[in-house]
Amino acid sequence: MPSYEDVLAEVLIDEGTLQARIAELAKEVSEDYRDNEALLLVCILRGGVPFLVDLSRRLTVPHMMDFMAVSSYGSGARESDGEVRVTLDLQMNVRGKDVLLVEDIVDSGNTIASVLEILQTRQPATLKVCALLDKAERREAVVPIHYRGFVIPNKFVFGYGLDLDEYYRNLPFVGVVDLEKYQPRRSPA
Ligand code: IMP
Ligand code: MG
Repeated sequence: MPSYEDVLAEVLIDEGTLQARIAELAKEVSEDYRDNEALLLVCILRGGVPFLVDLSRRLTVPHMMDFMAVSSYGSGARESDGEVRVTLDLQMNVRGKDVLLVEDIVDSGNTIASVLEILQTRQPATLKVCALLDKAERREAVVPIHYRGFVIPNKFVFGYGLDLDEYYRNLPFVGVVDLEKYQPRRSPA
């Protein structure tokens, strides 16, 4: 894997801007859920992890967290094409809880749409979506995004949870890949 500096076209959202927006989102979520009994943050592995951690640390309401992993059916190419398969399920029962899905990015929307459908059958009290990034131009599925960090252009991005062939999820900023210097093989859901 090349060093990230060699494949970075530009920093799209720097660390300060990300953290400031996450603080705003955390404030909004804390206000909206102040009277709720059982807030459960559900993080979709692996991309949602840095966002979950930073958001959670700034919430002023008591909450639980749990994790699930999904993979998209089909080609394994960059595009996800509809249904997803749960590869790691939640440990907790979501029935009666206020579930907030925490995602790194909504692209086609197919991943979130499927996850919402799966979780809805388990009868949570409420079910909402908090997504750091929204590649709105690429939307195929109609999905609600109740809390949204940033709308971004249709570019392949990496860092802050988003991977470049599984690397660089650790970067504290979101960067754009220079596709002339690096062609991502795939982007798992
Ligand atoms: P969707 O089902 O098309 O909304 O895809 C969402 C998933 O695709 C995300 O959770 C990411 O794992 C991945 N993804 C979409 N766009 C990018 C990107 O620009 N960089 C890295 N991963 C991405
Ligand atoms: Mg993801």
